[in-house]
Amino acid sequence: MAPHPQDVAYEASIKDPSAFWSHQAKQLTWHSTPTTAFRKKTTKLQSGASYPSWTWFPDGEISTSYNCVDRHVEAGHGNETAIIWDSPVSNSKQKISYAELQEEVATLAGVLREEGVKKGDVVLLYMPMIPAALIGILATVRLGAIHAVVFGGFSAASLAQRLEASKAKVILTASCGIEGAKGPLPYKPMVRGAVKQSPHKPHKVLVWQREQSRWDDVIEKDGERQWQRLVKSAKDRGLRAENVPVKSSDGLYIIYTSGTTGLPKGVVREAGGHAVGLNLSVRYLFGIRGPGDVLFTASDIGWVVGHSYIIYAPLLAGGTTVLFEGKPIGTPNADTFWRILEEYKVNTMFTAPTALRAIRKEDPENKFFEGRGRKGALKGLRALCLAGERSEPAIVSMYQELLSKHGAPNACVIDNWWSSESGSPMTGLSLLPGTGRQFDERTWHKPLPIKPGSAGKPMPGFDVRIVDDDGKEVSGGEMGNIVLNIPLAPTGFTTLWKDEERFYKSYLKRFDGKWIDTGDAGMIDEDGYVHVMSRSDDIINVAAHRLSTGAIEQAVSSHPAVTEAAVVSLPDQMKGHVPFAFIAISDPPPNLLKDLNDRIRHSIGPIATLAGFIAAQGVIPKTRSGKTLRRTLKEALEHAVAGDFDKDPSYPSTIEDPAVVEKAKVAVKDYFMNGAGKEIKAKL
Ligand code: COA
Repeated sequence: MAPHPQDVAYEASIKDPSAFWSHQAKQLTWHSTPTTAFRKKTTKLQSGASYPSWTWFPDGEISTSYNCVDRHVEAGHGNETAIIWDSPVSNSKQKISYAELQEEVATLAGVLREEGVKKGDVVLLYMPMIPAALIGILATVRLGAIHAVVFGGFSAASLAQRLEASKAKVILTASCGIEGAKGPLPYKPMVRGAVKQSPHKPHKVLVWQREQSRWDDVIEKDGERQWQRLVKSAKDRGLRAENVPVKSSDGLYIIYTSGTTGLPKGVVREAGGHAVGLNLSVRYLFGIRGPGDVLFTASDIGWVVGHSYIIYAPLLAGGTTVLFEGKPIGTPNADTFWRILEEYKVNTMFTAPTALRAIRKEDPENKFFEGRGRKGALKGLRALCLAGERSEPAIVSMYQELLSKHGAPNACVIDNWWSSESGSPMTGLSLLPGTGRQFDERTWHKPLPIKPGSAGKPMPGFDVRIVDDDGKEVSGGEMGNIVLNIPLAPTGFTTLWKDEERFYKSYLKRFDGKWIDTGDAGMIDEDGYVHVMSRSDDIINVAAHRLSTGAIEQAVSSHPAVTEAAVVSLPDQMKGHVPFAFIAISDPPPNLLKDLNDRIRHSIGPIATLAGFIAAQGVIPKTRSGKTLRRTLKEALEHAVAGDFDKDPSYPSTIEDPAVVEKAKVAVKDYFMNGAGKEIKAKL
């Protein structure tokens, strides 16, 4: 049987990456066309270590904002819709054409230039899901500056950390976010608090005023400015800034992701590789090819999924992106996503399994989806893409059945696996695979069959391998560490912001520079499908957000009554996992959970709050070298929520005292049978 086109394309990308990616690079407009696809080099660190590194399109120069906006206007598509904003929480809807977007982006870029932003500077955005956020991002890029978008749910302390780390010159923000049905959430305390706490101060803070809650005292002497006023003045004066191209290897943006220690890691995306890789992925994997194709990504611009598939990818392709401000449920109900699919004739939707679990809880029989489907309103829907956490087979199968009944011919659920580091899916199933190096935009292929429970097959350029703890490849079907061969596909990161040492230590050192460590475990089955089983224990995946156990432990340990804490994940029906703490004290003070959560909200944000804790002496197992055995505690919790109270969790032979595990097991049983855990268990 002839191989499937997806397999052929993948083979071509691995066998001859230069030829494959040079061909893809031709799909974009370059200021200076690259003559080479990539160059390998050796990076030497001050510590004396060195590692193999690489750069994509080394002699190319590009403007990503030109490719996302102006290129389409110049091609005669100025009247096509670039952005559809749908905000049930503010009762607003807006369509922005490519020509309008160009006008807004060029004007704001002019404003930012006047405020002192130039090529290579960092602009930090702390913004809700409103069009101004996308315009701010594109205007930054238009000047050849670098953006760092921080999720609007992070606390002042987290924002301060990122402000200090990025040394941002300007902050773009808004007067408020609107958090689901809860209403406006003023940003002023967070932004001012962050500026106060950070040793590095921005020169300017531009505030987008929203009617729902205004930032009433903009203090000019502190650099605060009214965004809309500056734009109005710029328009009155006809002020605009043109695109400033950058070197392909220059940074386009920094995105902070949870690290194993409290400090977030600043993943750097290179301009040229990002544009080329995303332009391929949005066509190849998501089937968004150009004007008329609509992508709805229900994420937040603060996460990598939002960067790639709300902002850049659909605009690079010249398609339409739906920017949604709301929640899958409660704004106003579990039909919101499906209303958007119908109203805007969405072709591909992207969301996290958590959102679908939330919808399933409110609408277990899928009455809303079925209702719209029966009207024939979802016939244009080609794919439902899921990522951010493991998609359980029940969810994949349920939505596959719905899509087969009501979606476009061959419509499928595409589970895909990736991270802030990879910038685009490392595995998935493609809708438009094309053949060989060539990628045929006209042909819809029947995607490879889905396998619920697997995140599909590797995407072009991501050479995924499974290795044991010594870095040796294991045979097919065996579990191991998921690693990547060098180079990564062009959307992949090549370093951390001003911290090559940490890049090496976090990703390359473990396997002596031979592989990039993804931090995930899993296996590749006999058909080449990748199954991603679990994350390493220092990161918890909560509602498809990566949170650092170390950072939560730090917040918990800041409580005067707590001398030691271990934070692990507890299974949760809706969010996949939620944080849970083991605390070494025998007599917890009253209201400890609330006090701890107040501290977590203050230092990280509300998304990281604990579901509960167990407080007892001698329940945190350690290795002889002092490493906390979080996995053992996590297993004890998993056994307990499954009702297997007496099952022993596993632990390594290097454990300091096995009796601690037994004590932890007994404490867990007591918590779920007699303590506060009774309620948690009843909900599972
Ligand atoms: N700004 C401010 N606060 C925010 C926020 C934001 N952008 N996002 C979340 N929060 C707050 C919430 O208000 C909540 O605060 P509370 O504890 O005071 O009530 C807390 O953070 C936890 O929020 P969340 O995890 O969103 O839980 P929820 O119960 O409000 O909603 C879901 C549950 C399932 C609806 C929600 O988690 C969801 O939409 N998940 C999908 C996730 C997703 O799309 N991820 C993108 C990755 S691809």
